[in-house]
Order: sequence, then C-alpha cells, then structure tokens
Amino acid sequence: MAGSNDKSLMERIVSLCKRRGFVFQSSEIYGGLSSCWDYGPLGVELKKNIKDFWWHSVVVSREDVVGMDAAIIMHPKVWEASGHVKHFHDPLIDCKNCKARFREGEAVFYFKCSVCGYSFTIRDKRIIPDREFADKIAEEDLRGEPYHYKGTNCPLCGAKKAIKVEKLACPECGSVNLSSPRQFNLMFKTHFGPTMDSASIVYLRPETAQGIFVNFDNVLTTSRAKLPFGIAQIGKAFRNEITTGNFIFRSREFEQMELEYFVKPEEAEKWYEYWINERLEWYKKLGIRPENLRLREHEEDELAHYARACTDIEYKFSFGWAELEGIADRQTYDLDQHIKASGKMLAYYETETKKHIVPAVVESSAGVDRTFLTVILDAYWEDEEHDRVVLRLNPKIAPIKVAVFPLVNRDGMPDVARKIYEEIKTHMSAFYDQSGSIGRRYRRQDEAGTPFAITVDSQTLEDRTVTIRDRDSLRQIRVNIDNVVEVLKEKIEKGWGE
Ligand code: GAP
Repeated sequence: MAGSNDKSLMERIVSLCKRRGFVFQSSEIYGGLSSCWDYGPLGVELKKNIKDFWWHSVVVSREDVVGMDAAIIMHPKVWEASGHVKHFHDPLIDCKNCKARFREGEAVFYFKCSVCGYSFTIRDKRIIPDREFADKIAEEDLRGEPYHYKGTNCPLCGAKKAIKVEKLACPECGSVNLSSPRQFNLMFKTHFGPTMDSASIVYLRPETAQGIFVNFDNVLTTSRAKLPFGIAQIGKAFRNEITTGNFIFRSREFEQMELEYFVKPEEAEKWYEYWINERLEWYKKLGIRPENLRLREHEEDELAHYARACTDIEYKFSFGWAELEGIADRQTYDLDQHIKASGKMLAYYETETKKHIVPAVVESSAGVDRTFLTVILDAYWEDEEHDRVVLRLNPKIAPIKVAVFPLVNRDGMPDVARKIYEEIKTHMSAFYDQSGSIGRRYRRQDEAGTPFAITVDSQTLEDRTVTIRDRDSLRQIRVNIDNVVEVLKEKIEKGWGE
C-alpha cells in the first residue's frame, strides 16, 4: 500500500486522474494553461457529489441554514468595503540569480551561526550549507528532519543557541540575491461593458463570502430567520496567485464552499467551537482517515486584524500538512464594513430587547478542489496482493456506484446484464461494460473508485441471481435480480465493506 509520505504519490495521482478522466490540464491541446484544470467525466461526478455532501450537511439537513448563489461579478465597491482592494496583496519576490518568482512567505531562511559564521539554508528538509562552508559539514548532517534553529546548536561548531535568521533566500536555488518584496493584488480585474477605462473596472470575486454579506438583509427578510442562522454558498472564486502548484491544491480558478453563520456577538465563541467540531466530523464522514486530519489554531500574528480567532482544518498531504478549510470568528467586521460603505442598515431586530443588533459571524470556508484532491489521495491504494490500484472512495461520493458486466459475451448474458443496467440507471449512476476479460473490467472500475460490480453468469440464466462484488474486500454475494437495487442502496447508505 502506498503511504501518503511517498514522494512520487502526487505524480501517480496526477497520472491516474488524467488516465481515468478525473482531471485534465486546461487547454491541453495548446500546451496547457498553467494551474488551470478541467474536470473530466468522472471528475465532474466526484466533484458534484462532494458539493452535494456538503450542501446536504450544511443546508438541507439543518433548520438554521439557507443557501444562496450570488453573481461572480459584483459591484466594485463591495471589494473596497471588504478591504480586498487595499489589503488582498501578496508580497512578490524575484530571485536575481535563478529568476524564480515566489511569495515572500515561500522564501527560505538563510541562517548564520553567531559564533563561527557557518551559514546555510534548509530546502526539502535538508541543510544546504552556503558554498563557502559546503565541505565543512559532515554528509549525515545534510539529511534528516527540518532543522529547528530556535534553541538548537550550530551544526558545525556546536555553539549553543547560536543560530540566527540572517535574511531570506530563494526557495529554488538558495541565493540571497533577491529583489525587495513588491505588493501584488491577487484579484483578477476585468472591464464591465464596452469602455475600457478605470470607471469600468470590476473584479472576479476572490471569495464567495462577500456575496453572502451584501445579501444579508435580503435573505433575512425573505426567510424570516432567527439568530443564530447561517447562509451558505458554493461557487467559483478567482485569485491571481503568484505561485500555484501541487496539482489542484492551489490554482487561480477554484471553487469554495462557504458558510457565514450569524450569531449574537456574546455567543460567537460557543458557535466557533461548535463549527470547528462539526466541520472536522464532516471530513471524517466523507471518508478521510482521521489520522490524516488535524486542527491548527492560528497564532496571534497570523490572524486578520478583525478576526478574534481562526482554526484551520489541515490534511497530511504528501508535501506536508496543509490547509483544507478555515473556521474563523470574524466578529461583526464584515457587516460593519458594508453598513459603513453602503449606508444601509444590515442588522437584526431582537424582539426580546426591541433593539437592532449587528450579528457577529462565524465563517467556515472550504475549498472544493482541495477536498477533491484530499479525497483521491486518501482513497488511493496500491493493492499489491491483487495487483491492482484501488480508489477506496466512500460509496456515497463515488462517481459511479455500480458497474454491470456479463461474464462472457454470449448465451444471452449481455441482454440480461443490459436490462439490469437500465433498471439501476434510473436509481443511481451505473456503468455497463462487456468488452475484455472480466478481471480487466473489474480492475478498471477499482481504479475509478466504483464500489460495486454486478456480474451476470451462467447461474443467472438458471435462477435469476447475480453476483455483487465489493471493491475493497473483494467479497462476492449472490442476490436475486429483483433485489439488486434495494441491496445496493442499503450498501451505499451503510458504508462500504458491510
Ligand atoms: N472567505 C474566507 C476565505 O476565502 P481563504 O483561507 O482565503 O478564506 C478558504 O480560503 C479556502 O478556499 C481555503 O482553505 C482553500 O480550501 C480554498 N482556497 C483558497 N485559495 C485557493 C486556491 N488558490 N486554490 C484552491 N483552493 C483555494
């Protein structure tokens, strides 16, 4: 079985995604557009199922949350009020040595020992000594875990707590010959209407959240909601990221699933804790292994100035722990900003106190594409014993729920199998395949994550029973044709392996 720490795991996932029609490089026939991705036939189903799983959990199954779908292009004043025009910047640095371009946060540190002057950077978890010192350090010190400079001895002279951060260095080549950081706004600009002047500038939204805040009053009055209540939205967001990568982990066009949960300000802390727990459980129900998930609370200096607290849900990707979703207590900042900028009253009338209050907001903001990548990575399994690659997807989100095969292409088996397939198709996504050996057909479906396979064999022609094969355990049971749909529905509901 491939461990998630395996270095080439991501390459194998990218290749599987392309081979099986999950994800393609955008505009591939023209050489591709970097960091833009297209979802193929299986990918679009999986992505839709993930979004449905979220929508069901956050909206449909709850009394206190409603959904909405705002336009991608909004009034430019929205982004002034939200602070995006002024603050949604990333400091951009150019390496004058190798010409790499990266975010300031991606630069590596250039360390120096204050006693012996030994200088080095750390890349790919290895100490890379400055050329001047390269031959003075033992080979074994160049390997291993990241070097924790704080309170650590110098790897060369051993002086205690002597290592200091000297400056920033290029993450590609380690050079300290860098440009000073330039501020770069991450919002995509375009022009609204036929004129191309500054008055017609609009932005592609960099988050879906603002569509919710500006509609706060519309939703409140039309749904007659009582606090606490939430508004949820799934949709595209665009950021002109300086650096992208790790397949669909960070791209310039992506989808978000966001919930803004409005609460009485004095109850914000309670609901913040509630949503952290709720959202973590959601990833587990989605099928992600709990040991690959963790919570990380933001340090004081990481927090946006208006946020009281923020916790990330992180996944242990092959490139390290990284954010899947952020849950933030944003206080009343967002509504306050839009009240100030629009002059409109975005408040809630409390019948008990007969006062208007501006609710605080607890936000849960998740990425669809990151969840998609997580689901695939976490489900990927190289079953060496049976010489197959399996995507052990939760049946509830698998793109195809069941494949139907005639064992052989004769004796009327294809006719019976097609009839079964047509019946199942009216209930769930199914796939019919009669070409190639049965073993190959099973393997193709294992790789697509299809949890069940039905085979029509000679016994079917005698007693109207078929086999249902379980993707993960490879166990087979015989079921009467008339009960197939019911059995499959139960198995999908119960979970796999049951
Ligand atoms: N409204 C708050 C907000 O947008 P964020 O941390 O900037 O917060 C939330 O984004 C989530 O959106 C992230 O946790 C991630 O899952 C997803 N996301 C953000 N930028 C992304 C990108 N460039 N590519 C893919 N997903 C991204």
